[in-house]
Amino acid sequence: MLEVKNASKIYEGKIAYKALSDIQLSIGSGEFVGIMGPSGSGKTTLLNMIATIDEPTTGEILINGQNPHLLKKEDLAKFRRRELGFVFQDFNLLHTLTVEENIVLPLTLDGKKVKEMKEKANTIAEKLGISQIMKKRTYEISGGQAQRVAVARAMIHVPNLLLADEPTGNLDSKSSKDVMQMLESINQTERTTMLLVTHDPQAASYCNRVIFIRDGQFYSEIHRGNNRQAFFQKIIDTLSLLGGDGNDLSQIRV
Ligand SMILES: Nc1ncnc2c1ncn2[C@@H]1O[C@H](COP(=O)(O)OP(=O)(O)O)[C@@H](O)[C@H]1O
Ligand SMILES: [Mg+2]
Repeated sequence: MLEVKNASKIYEGKIAYKALSDIQLSIGSGEFVGIMGPSGSGKTTLLNMIATIDEPTTGEILINGQNPHLLKKEDLAKFRRRELGFVFQDFNLLHTLTVEENIVLPLTLDGKKVKEMKEKANTIAEKLGISQIMKKRTYEISGGQAQRVAVARAMIHVPNLLLADEPTGNLDSKSSKDVMQMLESINQTERTTMLLVTHDPQAASYCNRVIFIRDGQFYSEIHRGNNRQAFFQKIIDTLSLLGGDGNDLSQIRV
């Protein structure tokens, strides 16, 4: 459902910088794929190109056979709302709104009726275990709850592709685990295709497959199989071969 073909990204500036070179990626419908690599290796750049936040300099990106970068502005906005869901490290919630208002925000933008929005919000809140906090403000909830709310908002449109950039980056290990288990369960029950950028091996071990990049280039890829603990170990081994800044490994949570 997602094809990245020969994608490269050059950031122009006083000195042009090639952040990605010739990335090839093919992700099937319903897959849960992790992207790992040292800081500065191009993970966010890759995700932003797929998210249509940024454009590849060369190459193309196809989502369900369609190249969103060719769409006109309004069609692109619609495409992003219908096909894609986003989750970020900093949750990206609006602090003037309640949890419920944050969750239904994408529907508000689509001009949906209040009753329909409430029903959808309640259904998803129940699934994600946040029904009790719907009336709270974002500063009254924990980081783990905030990320659940962000996932609820990303899922309310039932997107085909969920993109997450370091979703556990601001969470303690218990909340990280909760959020990853929740993503895993959404992936299994809704068959939502998921792409997760992370430097956390524990989080990555919930994926079916992890792709490693280094210096903007494909490095290797490993598959999970049915043993998550063994996969976790393989991820750590690959990361140590991969090198990069020590910071990445010091943040390991076991
Ligand atoms: N808007 C930008 N302009 C110029 N250089 C950028 C920009 N965004 C990222 N870069 C550079 O591209 C490289 C890859 O960045 P990024 O994709 O954020 O890496 P990662 O997410 O793996 O840490 C880095 O060297 C970074 O400094
Ligand atoms: Mg990044």
